[in-house]
Amino acid sequence: MSLPNPRPEGAALVTGASSGIGADLARELARRGHALILVARRADRLEELASELRSEHDVRVEVLPADLSEREGRNDLLERIAGLGLEVDVLLNNAGYGLSGRFIELDADRQDQMIRLNVEAVHHLARAIAPGMAERKSGAILLLASVAAFQPVFGMSDYAATKAFVLSLGETLHEELKSRGVTVTTLCPGPVKTEFWEVAGGAQGAAGAKPMWTTSDKVAREAVEGLEKGARVVVPHGPVKAAALGGRYTPRSILLPLMKKTGM
Ligand SMILES: NC(=O)c1ccc[n+]([C@@H]2O[C@H](COP(=O)([O-])OP(=O)(O)OC[C@H]3O[C@@H](n4cnc5c(N)ncnc54)[C@H](OP(=O)(O)O)[C@@H]3O)[C@@H](O)[C@H]2O)c1
Repeated sequence: MSLPNPRPEGAALVTGASSGIGADLARELARRGHALILVARRADRLEELASELRSEHDVRVEVLPADLSEREGRNDLLERIAGLGLEVDVLLNNAGYGLSGRFIELDADRQDQMIRLNVEAVHHLARAIAPGMAERKSGAILLLASVAAFQPVFGMSDYAATKAFVLSLGETLHEELKSRGVTVTTLCPGPVKTEFWEVAGGAQGAAGAKPMWTTSDKVAREAVEGLEKGARVVVPHGPVKAAALGGRYTPRSILLPLMKKTGM
């Protein structure tokens, strides 16, 4: 069984649960009877989701607001989880954001914060939590990459680079940890209708034609089904699977000038 069974001392930790894919991942886990630890900065949103999950699925839900771009916030979160007497059986490392624009024109502080959230926080939480899973010979980790992880993206250079890190880490950890009873799945969605695009700025049209778009509930369902099967990588939604292949194999000398020309 690649997704551990729910147990009283275990919980699923969902980062970025206040919105979009993270909120729907929490719903998928609650539906399967898992206790949840919900993390993001907006506590009011987390409390709202917690009430919904407690009343609909009768599961334990803890709300632990944190700024995961700060090392201190992450250490404090890990201490608070231990203080609750909970062990993380499922880690859904989802919090992240993107930035659209040219490398030298973006706000340097936002670029820095994005790298700390999309890369450092993902690494820190996985590094802190995976050893306990390996010791118990049971655990599941989902890493949120993107279809942007398969290729450089003109107009989203830093974001695509952060997701390439996540995909590379996730694919190796999948192989390294499976013999220790821990499944690691990397999720690579194409464009999803969430608040992501308001935060990232730039034109949504640049993210792909209409058939490429999908919704966070569908992405979350495919992701958790992938965890259950012990999948290495999940690329949800048919048209995005083809784009991922194209991104992986199209020569960069063709791909990047084409992206530049089409206005990204
Ligand atoms: N939407 C897409 O098209 C798409 C495609 C591919 C991959 N993804 C990836 O999917 C993941 C989820 O994105 P989404 O589409 O669901 O976007 P979203 O609706 O904007 O959700 C992002 C989540 O991250 C949290 N977050 C942001 N900064 C944080 C911080 N410093 N500390 C803690 N939490 C923080 C946000 O909560 P607070 O603001 O309350 O902190 C929110 O819950 C991201 O990793 C994103 O890169 C999205």
